[in-house]
Amino acid sequence: MSSAELPPYFNISPDRALGQLGDPTGTQGLAQISENYRRGRQDLVGRGLEEGGQRQLRPFSTWEITKYLIPVAPQHFRRVLRQNPDLPQGRSETESGAKWFSLDEVLRLRAFFAAEGSKTKEYLPYRPKDVPAKIVAVANFKGGVGKTSTCAHLAMSAALDGYRVLMIDLDSQGSLTSIFGAQVEDEWETVFPLLARHYAETLRQDNQRRIDRGEAPVALDDSLSEALKIKAPELIKKTHWPNIDIIGAQLNLYWAEFQIPVWRMASRGWKLWDALTETLADDGILDQYDLIFLDTPPALGYLTINGLAAADIVLVPFGASFLEFDSTGRFFDMLHSTFSSIEESENIAARALGREELHFEWDAIRAVVTRYDASQQAEMAALIQSYLGNTLSPHRQDFTALIGQAGEQVHGIYEADYRDFNRETYVRGRETFDRTYAAFKSLLLGIWRRDELEAKKP
Ligand SMILES: Nc1ncnc2c1ncn2[C@@H]1O[C@H](COP(=O)(O)OP(=O)(O)OP(=O)(O)O)[C@@H](O)[C@H]1O
Ligand SMILES: [Mg+2]
Repeated sequence: MSSAELPPYFNISPDRALGQLGDPTGTQGLAQISENYRRGRQDLVGRGLEEGGQRQLRPFSTWEITKYLIPVAPQHFRRVLRQNPDLPQGRSETESGAKWFSLDEVLRLRAFFAAEGSKTKEYLPYRPKDVPAKIVAVANFKGGVGKTSTCAHLAMSAALDGYRVLMIDLDSQGSLTSIFGAQVEDEWETVFPLLARHYAETLRQDNQRRIDRGEAPVALDDSLSEALKIKAPELIKKTHWPNIDIIGAQLNLYWAEFQIPVWRMASRGWKLWDALTETLADDGILDQYDLIFLDTPPALGYLTINGLAAADIVLVPFGASFLEFDSTGRFFDMLHSTFSSIEESENIAARALGREELHFEWDAIRAVVTRYDASQQAEMAALIQSYLGNTLSPHRQDFTALIGQAGEQVHGIYEADYRDFNRETYVRGRETFDRTYAAFKSLLLGIWRRDELEAKKP
């Protein structure tokens, strides 16, 4: 039926509707639906993969390198390559065509320019020595606001900028994990064992105290004993980006939401909010990377609380609409009540025992407007800005058709080949994510500088 014929009330015949209905759905039906999705997904993921099932990052051209990645003029860039035959020379499709380089090669070239080139130019990004990686959590309990897209694009921007990036997917939907093509078999390949290990270590300390008091220790179950052996490097997977690694997620990670409260009931002394930071620090991870990005699920559950507690910087994406503004406000309400109630209950005990009190503190918390449409949302955005002030990140991330719609192997603007788009469209779409990163980087450098100056204080 054509849409012109539709109303009034669609002329639906109950018998025809019954004919189209099919049988009721039971659990077997759910299994079948999920199997259909699984097969479709396998098909999609398999398309365009390299031999051996590996994903590959696209190459970067001289145009893109000299425009976006290394601050040198194209002529000078070519001259330096000619003078240094040991440097990567790039590949071209035709005799005189543009030269293309892998990101690995770009990173080597950048290191060369940093060592040999003009000292006045910033070839390598600022990063104070001997400070741990900064942990950045992207969170909002509202779904679909651009958490994963923001997280993935910031990670890619930071990698193109030359930082060493680790991503941790705390969302059992595993979207970030899919974007980076990581294969995660079960919860034992997610952060779950790190949380379990942290809890098991608390139990061991509890047991030591029991033994000291002459009481019998409580046996650790098999999975906790297993978790005690697992270190973060075993969970980290390489991606098709040379300087982005990931601890992935998978559906079973959701189990942590049930397991964590059970552990917390069993040992009141377990500081679950320290679990992620302390295990990453103990395993040396904070020294091996510059930035760690955490993508969180659309919920304020235990995994999100863990991620937020571990974070130095919290980014809260939301759209400039009334509903998203409203629910993001409630998210901040919940953050406040969750973290202040943890502080209160901990500090009653801390004061009684004369121990140091617990105070959560973040280097910065910023709300970020995403999917912004200037033609519809300017007024709303201005109002939001007037109420949020400094909490609102200064750049509004435009809605762009360049992300989300791309093929199954291309996720986001930094993985897309600019030759597939009108050059103007590409430049504009890219600019909105470059500026999202610029606002983030300014935050990051300010924080690192503050840390550096604090450290110098006598
Ligand atoms: N700047 C943007 N322009 C256009 N589309 C966008 C933009 N940012 C995100 N999207 C699209 O919006 C949808 C939701 O984005 P995303 O998955 O990043 O949200 P999320 O907050 O992580 O969702 P969830 O709560 O399910 O984890 C996706 O289809 C994504 O491609
Ligand atoms: Mg997401």
